Amino acid sequence: MQLQLQTWQEVEAYLARSTAIIIPIGSTEQHGPNGFIGTDALCPEFLARAIGDGEDVLVAPTISVGMAQHHLGFAGSITLRPSTLMAVIQDTVNSLAVHGFDSFYFLNGHGGNIATVTAAFSEIYAESSLGRADHNRPPLRCKLRNWWDLQGVQSLSQELFGEAEGRHATCSEVSLTYYAYPEHVKHADMTPEIAPTGPIYAADDYRRRFPDGRIGSNPALASVAAGEQLFHAAIAELGEDFKAFSAGAD
Ligand code: NI
Repeated sequence: MQLQLQTWQEVEAYLARSTAIIIPIGSTEQHGPNGFIGTDALCPEFLARAIGDGEDVLVAPTISVGMAQHHLGFAGSITLRPSTLMAVIQDTVNSLAVHGFDSFYFLNGHGGNIATVTAAFSEIYAESSLGRADHNRPPLRCKLRNWWDLQGVQSLSQELFGEAEGRHATCSEVSLTYYAYPEHVKHADMTPEIAPTGPIYAADDYRRRFPDGRIGSNPALASVAAGEQLFHAAIAELGEDFKAFSAGAD
């Protein structure tokens, strides 16, 4: 169930059954010659909505712009500063907590968000621990889950793509978006076939090291069929992971 498609009465009724919610979070940044700029937001959103439609789970609007300063050398990329993204996360959690939500499952699609999201969680916990939050508020729990880190996804992407999977504009993430949006599949030459790898600093340096935007990948191997396999592998594991979290076990 998407929060945006509910009435407030329906959300109140949901809160009587569950106080857990999934919040997809991603990024809006270049993904090489054949990947969508929305890849990192579209992947967790697609997976979260599938879980939300299959089970009685509420899914918040996607936080679609993340920490992507290193991609600003490529047209269409948008970034929030880490401090801005932390504020967005804190305000989102605190708003939902006002109504009684206490368990926040952030399903993440972008490696560059991890440090900032984790720091935002620490700020949220510090507000409670330092006594600045409303004393009537139940303790809040926030969890970050990177969809690409799921065991089933990792082993499948290794099996399907091996070393061509890469680190950015990966075969797996491009495949998953192709499965979600098959009418937008793109074809492009990859030269070299497997992109270079290296460290990430600021935007100009990134563009020099990784001229077409990819890091270590050959997403020409991405396909709708691979995306479908990855989707099913991810959904099975995510559903269980979310259940364990909302039950307080994880
Ligand atoms: Ni990505």
